Formats: sequence, structure tokens, C-alpha cells
Amino acid sequence: MNAQFDMNDFTEIIVSEKQIATRLDEIAAQIREDYQGEELLLVGVLKGAVMVMADLARRMPPQVQMDWMAVSSYGSGTRSSGVVRILKDLDADLTGRHVLIVEDIMDTGMTLSWLLGNLRSRGAASVEVAALLRKPDAASVDVDVKYVGFDIPNDFVVGYGLDFDEKYRTLPFVAVLNPKVYGEA
Ligand code: IMP
Ligand code: MG
Repeated sequence: MNAQFDMNDFTEIIVSEKQIATRLDEIAAQIREDYQGEELLLVGVLKGAVMVMADLARRMPPQVQMDWMAVSSYGSGTRSSGVVRILKDLDADLTGRHVLIVEDIMDTGMTLSWLLGNLRSRGAASVEVAALLRKPDAASVDVDVKYVGFDIPNDFVVGYGLDFDEKYRTLPFVAVLNPKVYGEA
């Protein structure tokens, strides 16, 4: 692939394309084993989880299904408040289903905590979480994440689905944004 980007926009690549692929191989193998003989529904959280969903789903058997939710969490600035609004709900009825929420990143964990509660109240047989990235603050919220790709430092990161002002989602890796991009240097 011939992706177009300027490396000067980033101070550091936190997770490379190769590291993502290798880790997803491992996580996918674990998920296939854990859900052997079960029908699994992957629920992606728009828009950040689009890349990890696409790459994880392609490592699953073709019986696995995908559905999508879009949520927005109210908060001051960039911090989550835990108050979440559904912008787009699932198409699927979750009654009796095994559900795996696929998320890009867990920061405070408040979004996932809310989502877990919401989806569990819909009569699913099970609801678990797979998150590609996890930041240190997530430890303070009691969310049981079954599959985690990488624990990363508390920097604001972009790429592989994650955005700054809706940009940089298309990067094949996860990187720390150079402060000059948002005009602080
Ligand atoms: P939480 O509720 O604090 O865990 O927030 C999770 C959501 O905030 C993620 O799904 C992302 O959309 C967004 N987010 C958190 N950290 C970052 C980051 O470093 N870069 C881009 N988006 C982030
Ligand atoms: Mg998100």
C-alpha cells in the first residue's frame, strides 16, 4: 500500500502496523478458541473501531457477524463524563447472543462501562470487550476487558481509526501527534 502521510506530524510511532497485525493474530486465535461452537456477534463502536473491527473480523470464521453502534459521550473538552448518548443503535436483537464489543481505545473506561451495562440489559447470553489500546486511567474504572491489544502511556494518539478533529484515522499505525499540529509548538 502507498499511504500518504508526513512523519513530521508525529513525535513517535507507538504501535507499528506490523505490531498491530501480530497482536491481532494472537487475539483472534484466543477469541476463536473461546467462542468455539458459538455464534458470535462483533459490535463495533463507530467510528474509531472501524480499522480494528475490519482486521479482527477477517481473522474470524465467516459465520461471525458484525453490527455497529455510534455513541457520543458528553464531557468537558476531551474528557469523558460517563454520560453517553446513542447516535446509532444496533440493527441486531441481542437476545441470547454472544456479543463481543470491539473498541479502539479505553481511556477513562467510562464509555465502555456504560456500553457494557447497556448491552447486558438487552438479554444477551454474554457481553465481553476487546479493545486494541488501553491507557493507564482505565485501571480506575471497574470494566472487565477480556481482550486488550496494547497498554500505552497517557499520550493523545491518532491513527488506525483514532482521530484528531476527524483527521488521521486512515494511518496504518498508532502515533503520538506532534503538538505543532494543534498549534502548541
Ligand atoms: P473513555 O470513555 O474515556 O474510555 O473514552 C474512550 C473514547 O475517547 C475512545 O473511544 C476514543 O474515541 C476517545 N479517545 C480516548 N483517548 C483517545 C486518544 O488518545 N486519541 C483519540 N481518541 C481518544
Ligand atoms: Mg471510540
